[in-house]
Parts: sequence; C-alpha cells; structure tokens
Amino acid sequence: MFRSRRLHLIVVLLAASVAAAESMSDQAIESKVNALIQKMTLEEKAGQLTQMGLTPESLELARQGRVGSFLGVLGAKQVNDAQHAVMEHSRLKIPLLFGYDVIHGYRTVFPVPLASTGSFDMPLLEQAERIAAKEATASGVKWVFAPMVDIARDPRWGRIVEGVGEDPYLGSQVASAKVRGFQGKNMADPDRVVACAKHYVAYGAVEGGRDYNTVDISERLLREVYLPPFHAAVQAGVGTLMSSFNDLNGMPGVANHHTLTDILRNEWHFDGFVISDWGAVHELLAHGTAADDTHAALDAVKAGVDMDMVDGAYQSIPQLVKSGKLPMSVVDEAVRRVLRVKFRAGLFDHPYADPAREATDILAPESRETARRLAQESMVLLENKGDLLPLKKTQTIAVIGPLADDKGSQLGPWAGDGQAKDAVTPLEGIVAKLGKEHVLYAKGVDIPPFERGVGAGVVAPAPPSATGVAGEESGKPANIDDAVQAASKADLAVVFAGELAGMTGEASSRATLDLPGDQRKLIDAVVATGKPVVLVLESGRPLDISWAPAQVPAILQAWFPGVEAGHAIADLLFGDVSPSGRLAVSWPQYVGQIPVYYNHNNTGRPTAPDRWHTGYLDMSGEPLYPFGYGLSYTKFTYRNVKAEFIPAKTASAGAKHQGTVQVSAEIGNSGNREATEVVQLYVHDRVAPTSRPVRELKGFERVTLRPGESKTVSFRVKENDLGSYDPQMRWIVPSGTYDVWVAPDSAHGVQGTFEVK
Ligand code: BGC
Repeated sequence: MFRSRRLHLIVVLLAASVAAAESMSDQAIESKVNALIQKMTLEEKAGQLTQMGLTPESLELARQGRVGSFLGVLGAKQVNDAQHAVMEHSRLKIPLLFGYDVIHGYRTVFPVPLASTGSFDMPLLEQAERIAAKEATASGVKWVFAPMVDIARDPRWGRIVEGVGEDPYLGSQVASAKVRGFQGKNMADPDRVVACAKHYVAYGAVEGGRDYNTVDISERLLREVYLPPFHAAVQAGVGTLMSSFNDLNGMPGVANHHTLTDILRNEWHFDGFVISDWGAVHELLAHGTAADDTHAALDAVKAGVDMDMVDGAYQSIPQLVKSGKLPMSVVDEAVRRVLRVKFRAGLFDHPYADPAREATDILAPESRETARRLAQESMVLLENKGDLLPLKKTQTIAVIGPLADDKGSQLGPWAGDGQAKDAVTPLEGIVAKLGKEHVLYAKGVDIPPFERGVGAGVVAPAPPSATGVAGEESGKPANIDDAVQAASKADLAVVFAGELAGMTGEASSRATLDLPGDQRKLIDAVVATGKPVVLVLESGRPLDISWAPAQVPAILQAWFPGVEAGHAIADLLFGDVSPSGRLAVSWPQYVGQIPVYYNHNNTGRPTAPDRWHTGYLDMSGEPLYPFGYGLSYTKFTYRNVKAEFIPAKTASAGAKHQGTVQVSAEIGNSGNREATEVVQLYVHDRVAPTSRPVRELKGFERVTLRPGESKTVSFRVKENDLGSYDPQMRWIVPSGTYDVWVAPDSAHGVQGTFEVK
C-alpha cells in the first residue's frame, strides 16, 4: 500500500517535471525567437519569409541572410555546402530549412497516397512516413511538403492520386498517422522531419476536375468535408501548412484570411507557419485580386501566409513596412512562426546533415519490405469470378501489356527521389515466383502519351528491356499479334493495362477516363483467345472500365504500387497474401456520373429499385464499385450487430456531447483461407435540422481471421463526433434515432439503430 502510494507520488512528480521541462523548452524557444527578432533588420526578416531554389544568385542572397529556406536541394553535401555559406557568412547565422516533396516515400517509393489510404492501416502508414523521414534527412531534407490531405470526389482531377480519397474521417486518420510518422515525438530528432499539410484548402473541389480551377462551395461543405483532415494534422502537431492555388468562393487560397487566420490560427490555434504554393503569391495578379507583386505580397502576408515559395514577392516587405502599408507586428508574427519551427526542428543546434547516413539509411532492405507490405495492402481486388485468383504456381502464364515491364510507371507521379531502376516490374515479380520457363511476355501495345489539350499523342520508342523472358524481343515495336500468340500458348493471361505515371499528378487532369491508346483492343484480342484473363490495372485514379467485368473474370486494381510493385502484385496473384485493400474513392461507372461519392445527402426522392429519380435515363446514379469496396480470397460474414448510446455520467463544466456510442458485430471467416477484412462502421442521423449524408464513416478496423474463426469487433464513437452544423453553423448533436452499419463497404453491411437522448 505504502509502496504503491510512493510509486504513485514518484510518477506524478516525474510527470510534472517532464511537463515543466516541455513548457520550459517552449518558453525558452519563445524567448530565443523574440531575442532574435529584436536583432533583425527588415531585410533579414523578409529573408526568413522567403524560399528559393538554389542558384549562385540565391546562395549569395542567403549569405546576406535574405533567404530562409531552399527547396529541391538534395544530398547531404549540397545541403551542407549551402548551410555552411549561411552559418559562416550571414550576420545572425539563422540556419536554412531545406524542403522537398516527399509525397509517397523519398527513395524507397511507397504506393501512391490514394492507394495506400485504401489500406486502412494507420500503423503501417505511420511506419512508411517514418522511413521516408529517415531517408529524406539522410539526404539533408529536413522539411517535407507532405502529407497531401486534399479530399477529392472527382477522379478527373489529376491530383486525386496524391490525396486521401473522398472521406473526411478516413482522411483525418491518415493525416494524423502521417504527421506522427514524419515528425515523431520530436521533430528535432535527426531522422525526423517537419511535415507540411497541403493544400489548404478545398483544392480537391476544383470545378470540372480541372487543375487550379475555381472552387465555390458552402461553408458547411468546407467544414464538414474539406477541412477535417487539416484540423487532424494540426491536432497531431504538424509544423507547417501549404496554402492552395485555387480560389475559394472568390478568394484565392494564398490571400484567404478566413481560412488562414480565422479558422487556422484563431479557431485551431495553429502556431507553426504557412508557406504559399509554388509562385502562388505572384499568381494573385492572374487571379485578378492584386495589381502587382507588391500588393500580392501585402495581401498574402496579411491573410496569414508566412513564407513565400520561389516567386520573390516577399522581397517587397521592407518597402511595404516603410510605406506604412504593412504593420511591423504582422511581419514579426510571421517571422516568429518561421523561427519557432526552425527551433523546434533543432536546426540551431544541428544545422548540418550527417553525410555518413546516406550510405546506410537510404533504400535499406527492411524499408523495401515495408514498401512491399504496404503495396500488398493497398491493391484492391475488384472482381474474381469463379475464384480464378489466386493462380497456381504450376501454370504457364502469358504476361501481357504496356505496364507489365515499365519500371518508371510502377513508382507513380511525385515519386520523391525515386529511381526507375529500383522498381520491380510485374513481369520481374512473376518471373521471381514462377521461373522464366513458365512465363511468356508480350507488350502488345504502347501507351501514347497525351498531347496536352488535344488527346492521345505520338508513341515514344520503347526503351529496351532486359528480363530475358521468352517472347520478348527488345527494341521491337509492340504488336498485338505477339500478345495473342503468347496468350494462346499459355494456360492463362495476365494483362497489365492502365495509365503511365505521368497521366496523373499536377496539371494532369483528364476529361475521359478511358484506357489510353489501344489497350482496350489489346484486352479484347487476348480475351478472344478463349484463355482465362486476369486484368491488372495500374493507374492513379479510377478508370472507365464498366465494360470489363463482362469481359474478364478477375480484375485487380494495383494503382501505382511503388518500388516493390512486381513482388507485391505477384504475392497477391499467387495467393501468398490475400488482398485486403479497399477503395478510398467511389469508382464511377462512367465519367458523366461525376461527382459520385458515397456520403451524399438524401434527396426528397431517394433512389429506390422501382424509381430512378436521382439516376439517369441511360444509367443508374450508383458507382461501379462503392467507397470501401474490395474483395478477398475468402468470404466474411457479418452478423449480430449491437448498438447502444451511453450518455455521459456527469458532463464536465462547459463541455457538451460527452456520451459515447458502442457498436459491435460478429465477423466470421466462412472461407478456407486466412485473410484480413477491413471492417467499417457507418452512421446516419435520421432527422436533423439539415439534410445529412446517407452514411458517414465513423470507424474501421483491420481484422485477420483464420478459416472458421469469428470475432466480435467493437467500436466506440464519441457523441460529439456524431454531430453536424445547424443552419446557423453551430455544432450540434441532434437527439433521436441514428442508423448504424457494420459493413464491408459503404453500400452493404448489417444494420442497427441507437437513440441519442
Ligand atoms: C505543388 C506543390 C508542391 C510544390 C513544390 C507545386 O506545384 O502544387 O504540391 O509542394 O509545387 O514542389
């Protein structure tokens, strides 16, 4: 008794002293920052708010203390050289912060974010970003322009590939996991980075899916769908945010005081800094909200953008202050935010990268193992009629298609410092499982790149390949006949079709979602041989494949899987692992249905089998595959759903909505293989002051079950998280009946109800 009390006392004292040390160090940072600001000239202040690319001229400016950050400088030596210039020559020796886009891995490239979001595996996503941070810092990069947490409901938008899909709850979970993975507990640790949640905000809602386009949405949609992942990133302690290119209800992201100051600083109390996107301050001229760069700079810094990316507009800050247009206090506050992050990142104590780490910490075998696992978990089995998959290792397989042996496209867009030579192609992965003698390869067709604004362009000559597999002749133009011959000689064919990596990403939106070039003809020709066909799609967005399920029995959506693409695909095709990835975005039947997303409101005439009010004359309004969908090699059963609302016993003063909802269901594996199911929890508020989504995701869990095994999966949802905004934009949790589903995807599941009292 005495011992345990003493232990308790020690624990309390320890906790208190740790807390004191933390707040001390925060205080210490603040006083160091303020002392530094006292010493700075206006030019040096503007310098801290300026990011540039590295050139001889910008390096000279940095020596004068007139640059705060460089982007795109890679390699410990290059970084250290530039840092030395500043630490040895500038007056105040304020270290530079080096930033780079590390969107899905640095050199160990992981699956594209839209894919890995669908793993629903937060610990694994955290681990992947931990690896990315380790590799980036080994190369001198201390700041990553990630996570990209834009919600998107429009697969025409090329940047849907970089984001977190269509769901705000899932997107928020991913945002926190990635911030934790990048920054760890202490972003000053030598192998952690400062993260940057981008693009703030609503960039994913660009009209028509056209990049950089206008966004005009309600405050409700902004707050309920597009803001939550950013809020989650802020709550997870993200060091920086990047403002978005688009205008939101008329106000460009870089000059939007409402989002950058009212919400981000005043409501969420974010105390890190905000950087503009590339050249976006200058783009205020094109938006037509500023007449020249000086006005653009004034608008951006006053709205709450602290650092300007590359366009040099913030060089006019001294002049703006001297002319009385810009209060010094605004400049000081921006500088304070930037310096605070530099102190938190430990740069003043450790400005240099350790060059020895490049040899040990980049592309380590265990990092590739994580990339393989994440790729396995990110791919989505869309169809598997007659259990064609998994394949037997004794068969002879024709490996066909333009993406079967394309190394570059395995990595996808925004691939950090990823290198095509590191990637394992599907052909290589299949050969590694089967041996060369059981594989016939034919490319069949090339994918013609698009000519911007026009359509399919000219086919580039194919680079020679070197797998030494029968059927392949390097340098020979692709030919469908070869593919037909290969399929005819084999037991079955696996066709790798889709998009080249460069067909998604920034400024890579599409008006059609067809398979580019003659890929559909290739598939038709291979199907016509009568051999069973597995279609493996690689793309950065859902494609228009509504014809495919009638043509081919098995479809695996592999996305752009990263360096371990081929191994992970082969692991799934041959059943070493059962697929468990899910769609993080609804998959439309046809481009004309867009936007199609699961968490839409009910209309006054909801769609029902005998009524098609919200569909079309020529098509239903339903997607081809719903959000959350994905098959596995076993069958899972859902039953016995229970849901109960437990009111708060005693609500603490001032706090509302402190009850919880407990939901459980029994999930069973009725097939004959061990597999992992992503069990999803959806909720619907039946009656609220405003129309509510037909379903909203509120929880998920990955559950691995052996054949015959079953498990009760339980969820707890906080009462407050059931809420919504009332017409006056006040957060409320309406009382009454709620529907709840424990489900394999957003369109199915076992249903229960609970009452909020
Ligand atoms: C992109 C950002 C990126 C920046 C720096 C911009 O074009 O929109 O996402 O971080 O470039 O590379």
